[in-house]
Amino acid sequence: MKAAVTAHPRYVVSEIDPRLYGSFIEHLGRAVYTGIYEPGHPTADANGMRRDVIDLVRELNISIVRYPGGNFVSAYNWEDGVGPKHERPVRLDLAWHTSESNEVGLHEFADWCASANTEMMLAVNLGSRGLDEARNFLEYTNHPGGSEWSDKRIANGRKEPFDVKLWCLGNEMDGPWQIGHKTADEYGRLAHETAKAMRAFSKSLELVVCGSSNAKMPTYPEWEATVLDHTYNEIDYISLHMYFDNEANDAPNYLAMSEKLDDYIASVAGVIAYVKAKKRSSKQVYISFDEWNVWYHSKEKDKKILGGNDGWPFAPPLLEDIYNFEDVLQVGLILNTFIRRSDVVKIACLAQLVNVIAPIMTVANGPAWRQTIFYPYLFASLYGRGNALDLKVESPTYKSIVAGDVSYVDVTGVHDTKTGHVTFFAVNRHSSEAIETVIDVAGFGAADIADYQVMTHADLKAVNSAENPGNVVPKKGSGASVAGGKLSLSLPAYSYQMIRLKV
Ligand code: AHR
Repeated sequence: MKAAVTAHPRYVVSEIDPRLYGSFIEHLGRAVYTGIYEPGHPTADANGMRRDVIDLVRELNISIVRYPGGNFVSAYNWEDGVGPKHERPVRLDLAWHTSESNEVGLHEFADWCASANTEMMLAVNLGSRGLDEARNFLEYTNHPGGSEWSDKRIANGRKEPFDVKLWCLGNEMDGPWQIGHKTADEYGRLAHETAKAMRAFSKSLELVVCGSSNAKMPTYPEWEATVLDHTYNEIDYISLHMYFDNEANDAPNYLAMSEKLDDYIASVAGVIAYVKAKKRSSKQVYISFDEWNVWYHSKEKDKKILGGNDGWPFAPPLLEDIYNFEDVLQVGLILNTFIRRSDVVKIACLAQLVNVIAPIMTVANGPAWRQTIFYPYLFASLYGRGNALDLKVESPTYKSIVAGDVSYVDVTGVHDTKTGHVTFFAVNRHSSEAIETVIDVAGFGAADIADYQVMTHADLKAVNSAENPGNVVPKKGSGASVAGGKLSLSLPAYSYQMIRLKV
């Protein structure tokens, strides 16, 4: 089989917002406790944060981390997580039916972000609370001093404001499972008034309203139209979430699901355009895809932990999906979709970052290790920065149930004009055939292969573990060449690859 691709530096979709490579830490399961925070751990720093985890997060070069939830935020009192630790209350977390010690809160998380070389994206509670909590939280977080809440922050040991720019107005408020779930009109009004108050504090904030929790919600996409109708001129982003599963154990259809993601983005972009036109607005709202990942491997186990609902465990092992090689392909496809739609998707958060549906896992009092999906995310985050190229792709296709005709070859290209590199990220969805692929790169002038990494595995279900973290890892590719302005490479059956050219 053969595929042909054309890339040219003048054909650009958009400059990629670095926040396309964001992630998420929620007070859920072992994300915080024994994830990022474990005071007794041999690598713990003075703040009790695991240095081995920080090193892996730094390796991923994550631009922004959403915090503190997720479903958790909808009944969270941010005040519980500030001030002397011994005075902080233990609360019952209604979202995950666990106990929350509040040992980690805003200050600890901000210090962790600084160590991990990333920024905070905070969420306010618009479930059980509202505008007043949000404005106090903002004053505490961002005001230099001389007011009640900012002076409390200073008294709690932080003189300089945290200066958080990006704020989520609640989480998944369309979901009946959400504490304080609302109708689109109820939420739209509340989000609008909260946004207005936050903007009155500072015009430079960037605000995210909740879109749909997934494209199967009965209220989608009317939810987006109603919420944007209320909020359009006060907010900057609408948030979308999507999780992928292969419960049917059907690889061809599983690997076609990124086409559904593309549809979802296109439909919401259409709703944004509709509301923009309706309001005669010159302002452009974008998408913050602030939760995405594969999520299904742990569901049976979680039912056992949460099913009885008869206890309030502290930091139990929830949502600990162990990812396989098939998920490498899926994550590569999802990231390719975001790169291709970087004209409308400006922020995207891999949900989540540590232990909870995460690329990084930890053993309490033991090692931290990289899941299979760590690698496609790593390559996109490191090299998927610059201009997303508008590629012309000719590839053989197959028929899927979930998305009709789907290309075997899914490929994106990113031109980093600062360093003079062009990087291609390619997935071959074919189960048994290699695809000989030629990419026309003549428009970039002379080109040399700077790096070429390939992920393949004989077993789609192969995983990594603490004992065997090297089972599914990238290997140096061979056999690719550039001649006469054409890059030629063979994409093995079921493979992910990153190939980087110096141009
Ligand atoms: O990421 C896990 C959960 O998924 C989040 O708490 C929630 O926002 C979503 O439903």
